[in-house]
Amino acid sequence: MTEWLVGAYAWIKSIHIISMVAWMAGLLYLPRLYVYHAMAPVGSDRSTTFKVMERRLLRGIMNPAMVATWFFGLALAGTPGIVDWRMGWIWAKLALVAGLTLFHGLLTRWQNAFAADHNTHSIRFFRAVNELPTLALIGIVLLVVVKPF
Ligand code: HEM
Repeated sequence: MTEWLVGAYAWIKSIHIISMVAWMAGLLYLPRLYVYHAMAPVGSDRSTTFKVMERRLLRGIMNPAMVATWFFGLALAGTPGIVDWRMGWIWAKLALVAGLTLFHGLLTRWQNAFAADHNTHSIRFFRAVNELPTLALIGIVLLVVVKPF
């Protein structure tokens, strides 16, 4: 039943990589927008512009890109002969991807807070969390390409 996935492997992997780049772009950029947004006075024109940018990035790009990354990633995982489930790399990768998904959820929560003028986090906080997706990206790419264990 899943045999057709074998023939589509290169195509599915390409779409998986394209959607993962779009998702990562948002995960890397949105906390950076929050750094600048946290500097803008509540009610200012700048703050209003950031609200629009944040909502569009999250709804227009990041949400669909995350769904596509998961969908095509799971299709790859279900392709016969691709993943040896006794290896550790796939589980470590899935753990990091779960972390990124959780991070996406937190970004959504912080976006809602900014939209309601209720942000409680500091500039330093957003600068610090901005580093997390970079670390996850490095880990995921090394795991999936090098497959060290
Ligand atoms: C959302 C859940 C995900 C699942 C279930 C998943 C699963 C997979 C699988 C099974 C492969 C094929 C591995 C192989 O051919 O040996 C793959 C390839 C790949 N994945 Fe994911 N993935 C997910 C998310 C991600 C994310 C978030 C990233 C990047 C941050 C990513 C980056 C890659 C890359 C770069 C490849 C290509 C590796 C190669 O050329 O062999 N994946 N993924």
